[in-house]
Amino acid sequence: MLALSLSDLQSKLREWKGCALHKTATQAVLGEGNPNADVMFIGEAPGQKEDELGRPFVGAAGQFLDELLGTIGLKRADVYISNVVKYRPPGNREPTPEEKEQCMPWLKMEIAIIKPKVIVPLGRHALGHFFTKLSITEAHGKAQKLTDTVTVFPIYHPAAALHNGGLRQALYDDFQALGKFLLERK
Ligand code: URA
Repeated sequence: MLALSLSDLQSKLREWKGCALHKTATQAVLGEGNPNADVMFIGEAPGQKEDELGRPFVGAAGQFLDELLGTIGLKRADVYISNVVKYRPPGNREPTPEEKEQCMPWLKMEIAIIKPKVIVPLGRHALGHFFTKLSITEAHGKAQKLTDTVTVFPIYHPAAALHNGGLRQALYDDFQALGKFLLERK
């Protein structure tokens, strides 16, 4: 079987019209980063800046994510960053269950290509892709075993802290816990 590469996915996604969000969005946004990354971060959906530039996490939430990565000695180029939904929902509303379902094969294909050892869902939409019954409030900052080789380490969405300053410290603390987990895993 011929293996798909990330650039194959990128070109296929650009032609894909399987989700009605393509009508209101500027362009599809696939993940980006190190194709050999051990750690993959997954957000919710592109926002305005991501829709404009066609890249994930390049707006305010992305700047905060870069800062958080820096606190544990990581750069964007070390990890892979993607989203559950590949098109921006109008006005940055939350994606519907149907939109998440329609976009799911893309995320699955990205995970199959990257083969991360640690998956970090940012917020409840990404967490729900892996564990439907876990709430982000209870699960954040704690490693959850997905398979024998893959751990899911949920963290609040960085954008949540931009709206609710009280979550900022929780994000710093969860990144410290993630950094410790990554070191101890080696
Ligand atoms: N929020 C997300 O969930 N994803 C992005 O790419 C940007 C903001």
